[in-house]
Amino acid sequence: MNTTTRSPIGILGTGSVAESLARGLRALGHPVMVAGRDAQAAAAKLQAFSAETGVMTGDYAQAAAFGAIVFLAVKGVAAEATLAPVAGALAGKVVVDATNPIEDAPPEHGVLRFFTGPNDSLGERLQRAFPALRVVKAFNTVGAALYFRPALAGGAGSMFIAGNDETAKQDVAALIRDFGWEPYDCGLIEGARVTEPLCQLWCLPGFLRNDWAHAFKVVAAG
Ligand SMILES: NC(=O)c1ccc[n+]([C@@H]2O[C@H](COP(=O)([O-])OP(=O)(O)OC[C@H]3O[C@@H](n4cnc5c(N)ncnc54)[C@H](OP(=O)(O)O)[C@@H]3O)[C@@H](O)[C@H]2O)c1
Repeated sequence: MNTTTRSPIGILGTGSVAESLARGLRALGHPVMVAGRDAQAAAAKLQAFSAETGVMTGDYAQAAAFGAIVFLAVKGVAAEATLAPVAGALAGKVVVDATNPIEDAPPEHGVLRFFTGPNDSLGERLQRAFPALRVVKAFNTVGAALYFRPALAGGAGSMFIAGNDETAKQDVAALIRDFGWEPYDCGLIEGARVTEPLCQLWCLPGFLRNDWAHAFKVVAAG
């Protein structure tokens, strides 16, 4: 994808991730549709945001059809059920999976509970369940408020990506650079096994001492 063409982007989800992605993408000039489970509820929830940013709203099927690239930004427990009915429309498309496998349970001493184990990840579960999708795990290792061109003390932070399709990863890497981050390639989709727990590490100082203002950066030795 040539990002200068400003391809249409669909976003499945209406939470803070969806809003931050949409705001950044609109600033870059992309047409954006943000979608909820119900089109009318999404339109009502996002009325002011939509008027301010120019994003369109719809349901998952509409956003899946609209986007050349589609972001998945729903609760982790709902990720598979969200993609199932729109998998046909998403076949062959780049699906950026920003979800994390967070259980519906409070953190334990600051550590979020995951419903996946160490040799598993939500990213690979989704890629396995929907093999025609070109899943790229990304945007899941930093708080949404810091997504777009954040001012970070050490310069551009690392945005970790993982996925099986090299061209899809290049498309997402271009968007990541547009957002002011340095893409860090964690290989095939199994790389999500190590990037998803970075969400637990990122959130830990938030839950322990209300510190949400940080990002990861891989630095070279020497
Ligand atoms: N918040 C962050 O800073 C951050 C950063 C990185 C990654 N993430 C991950 O990104 C994803 C989105 O996070 P978020 O904070 O924007 O929102 P969230 O509160 O985790 O999720 C809200 C979204 O999930 C959708 N959803 C779909 N099916 C659902 C169901 N059965 N039950 C409940 N919700 C359902 C909701 O749909 P409706 O619109 O129809 O209500 C809503 O759009 C999560 O997986 C999260 O772990 C979050």
